[in-house]
Amino acid sequence: MGFSISLFFLLLPLSFQSSSSLSSLNKGSSLSVEKQAQHFILSPNQMFCAGFFQVGENAFSFGIWFNDPHSHNPINVVWMANRDQPVNGKLSKLSLLNSGNIVLVDAGQITTWSSKTESHAPVKLHLQDDGNLVLDEPQGTILWQSFDFPTDTLLPDQPLTRFTQLVSSRSFTNHSSGFYKLLFDDNNVLSLIYDGPDVSSTYWPPPWLLSWQAGRFNYNSSRVAVFNSLGSFLSSDNYAFSTYDHGTVMPRRLTLDSDGNVRMYSRNEALKKCFDPERGRRCSCLPGYRVKNRSDWSYGCEPLFDITCNGNESTFLEIQGVELYGYDHNFIQNSTYMNCLNLCLQDCNCKGFQYRYDEGQGFSCYTKLQLRNGRHSPGFSGTISLRLPKGNNFSKEESVRAEDHVCLVQLQKGYVTKPENCYVRFFLWFATAVGVLELICLSMVWGFLTRTRQKSSADQQGYHVAAVGVRKYSYSELKKATKGFSEEIGRGGGGVVYKGILSDERHAAIKRLNEAKQGEGEFLAEVSIIGTLNHMNLIEMWGYCAEGKHRLLVYEYMENGSLAKNLSSNSLDWSKRYNIALGTARVLAYLHEECLEWILHCDIKPQNILLDANYQPKVADFGLSKLVNRNNLNNSSRFSMIRGTRGYMAPEWVYNLPITSKVDVYSYGIVLLEMVTGKSPTIGVQSIDGEESYNGRLVTWVKEKRSGTYSSWLEQIIDPAIETNYNKFKMDLLVRVALACVEESKDLRPTMSQVVEMLQSHESNPKS
Ligand SMILES: *[C@@H]1O[C@H](CO)[C@@H](O)[C@H](O)[C@H]1NC(C)=O
Ligand SMILES: *[C@@H]1O[C@H](CO)[C@@H](O)[C@H](O)[C@H]1NC(C)=O
Ligand SMILES: *[C@@H]1O[C@H](CO)[C@@H](O)[C@H](O)[C@H]1NC(C)=O
Ligand SMILES: *[C@@H]1O[C@H](CO)[C@@H](O)[C@H](O)[C@H]1NC(C)=O
Ligand SMILES: *[C@@H]1O[C@H](CO)[C@@H](O)[C@H](O)[C@H]1NC(C)=O
Ligand SMILES: *[C@@H]1O[C@H](CO)[C@@H](O)[C@H](O)[C@H]1NC(C)=O
Repeated sequence: MGFSISLFFLLLPLSFQSSSSLSSLNKGSSLSVEKQAQHFILSPNQMFCAGFFQVGENAFSFGIWFNDPHSHNPINVVWMANRDQPVNGKLSKLSLLNSGNIVLVDAGQITTWSSKTESHAPVKLHLQDDGNLVLDEPQGTILWQSFDFPTDTLLPDQPLTRFTQLVSSRSFTNHSSGFYKLLFDDNNVLSLIYDGPDVSSTYWPPPWLLSWQAGRFNYNSSRVAVFNSLGSFLSSDNYAFSTYDHGTVMPRRLTLDSDGNVRMYSRNEALKKCFDPERGRRCSCLPGYRVKNRSDWSYGCEPLFDITCNGNESTFLEIQGVELYGYDHNFIQNSTYMNCLNLCLQDCNCKGFQYRYDEGQGFSCYTKLQLRNGRHSPGFSGTISLRLPKGNNFSKEESVRAEDHVCLVQLQKGYVTKPENCYVRFFLWFATAVGVLELICLSMVWGFLTRTRQKSSADQQGYHVAAVGVRKYSYSELKKATKGFSEEIGRGGGGVVYKGILSDERHAAIKRLNEAKQGEGEFLAEVSIIGTLNHMNLIEMWGYCAEGKHRLLVYEYMENGSLAKNLSSNSLDWSKRYNIALGTARVLAYLHEECLEWILHCDIKPQNILLDANYQPKVADFGLSKLVNRNNLNNSSRFSMIRGTRGYMAPEWVYNLPITSKVDVYSYGIVLLEMVTGKSPTIGVQSIDGEESYNGRLVTWVKEKRSGTYSSWLEQIIDPAIETNYNKFKMDLLVRVALACVEESKDLRPTMSQVVEMLQSHESNPKS
């Protein structure tokens, strides 16, 4: 998917017109659906029409389209008033009332759409030569214009702004709102997002690239994109392209098509060659999977085999040049292929794994519970190994054979041959940067799977694990789940957390964010990125709600509560603590070093580390600092507002130094000290007057004890709740690591992956 450019052609001598067409609509007059074939508004240059057209059996919409005098049935609709609520073919009318309001009334009864305007002046509704339907007063004041409310199409000089977005049609024949959106995200970056019934995901620019890597600026907050009649497109984030026929003034449109491709169409009667308007990124399923519905691939892919839990019955198919981004369940650095394979086999829900060589780090292993965000990328230096049943016939070529899902490979070949033209260059860039869509397809597969699984009821646990994926919830659904937000289980990170039980009986933690400064689209763009973060030590986000001013996030619920609670109730022995330290370090390393750079937590503390039934740690609230505060983390290394919690905050915050991932390392170090000593760094801070505003007391205390002459320093600092039979070596190691993490100078602190290495190196060390 992505942008592509095509041409469309209409055979049109702009000659005759129906004599009953109008040049404008005055107060008190109407267009009625029964007379749709004669009764419409025509632009002075006769290029555009505005009127009723049929969208289904006895279903009509009011819209604007490129005029074609040979057919009233519009093929090139550029705007619609009521795409999701077609009106009846009888008694429906579009009227300009005396109040100055334009209303669309269905079957003489229900108002399905209105411009919400008001004026005492003799206003007129007319269609301009540029395709803009305008309601204005005689002296020219514009009260309403269709250019401010685009549906899936932009016309030349019609800007896409921070207030507007394009939403695709459901299919090439069905004009109602579909699943793809083009909008400016919270980072000022022009983005394409998929916002389906079960999942949402940003797919362009590729979410695994930082915006500058994708060639985008995120400092220009004007958020405007526009193209001109010469065929040049320019967005304030530095994204620009020109069509290959650039330079000639001709009718053009840019449409977010129902398959998620943005295409620029230009009308040119001179060229006799026709381009297929359906070219662009297409979906393909991975070997062993097939498209569920050939006529509408947004239903996704489904497996052609039964999932087996038994490792002995599984085999792996290794595929080159396909990358799957995100949704990693487990991640090991410097792993052998066999280790990675066995790791996947041990997990019933593992669908495959990615094995990749990283410069300086050896081979890394990522096991996948979901196969999403896939892209064909010939230069990708890793492989994906798909888990399939033994004795299967599925071949690597399979996905490249199916006639209608494989344009990717063909496209690339096709375009390589003519690299001199602009169109080609443009497209090649996308061919490498933008993905094939295993992403959508497969995400739907799991939705499908999890539902059937639940029905079979045997594997509730499996259902829980497999049911990851960002879903959209309605506010009323969540209100019901939380019994009217009655049971509060936590606070912080920009909101209050409530316990809830979803309609599928899963227990959830539902966070209600305080501020709803963002528009729904921007919120969604961020949520969808957070939703792709997946790690066994990260709280799973199941979904979100963005309705009106409500912004909620739905997370998995952790029975054992927070590390803070467990520390205060003395329920953790030394080995659990060590394990929690390691798990937390692993997820921080994963997020700092494997994901986008902006993913700093900035508020690591025992309240944000939750424990599952087996006391495995899961970190909560990643990415939230971004959602809750609109300040841009990408764009500079400074935050304009101090974040975090007293006692856990790195000195950088206080001295206004650049904020890097080392702030999380610092907070992590404090958490380690707290786990070892049982002493909270926040206790007693306030009472010390004139002390630095961040707290170094716990650190100083441990350092003093350690450098003292007593050999029993460890016994002196260790939490009395820890029994005496702890592993001295490991506890000493925790303290050493902690002290390294809380170095004043960030450059002296280790990275999180170095921490993992240190803690892991003695994992299997029996020495005590
Ligand atoms: C278009 O798709 C929507 C959503 O699937 C559906 O409700 C509607 O009936 C469809 N319209 C037509 C004319 O098929
Ligand atoms: C931001 O983008 C707008 C629109 O493209 C442009 O006019 C303006 O000069 C840009 N500002 C900066 C600082 O680059
Ligand atoms: C496939 O999609 C088409 C178009 O949306 C729909 O009419 C049809 O019912 C679907 N078929 C199945 C089997 O889901
Ligand atoms: C899998 O194979 C191993 C070794 O051949 C065997 O010990 C084990 O019982 C088998 N597991 C199952 C579930 O069949
Ligand atoms: C990877 O592991 C091997 C063997 O365990 C070790 O010799 C090597 O130094 C490790 N490489 C890195 C980069 O950690
Ligand atoms: C493998 O393919 C052959 C022919 O295409 C078919 O007859 C056979 O049933 C397939 N086997 C499996 C396990 O799907």
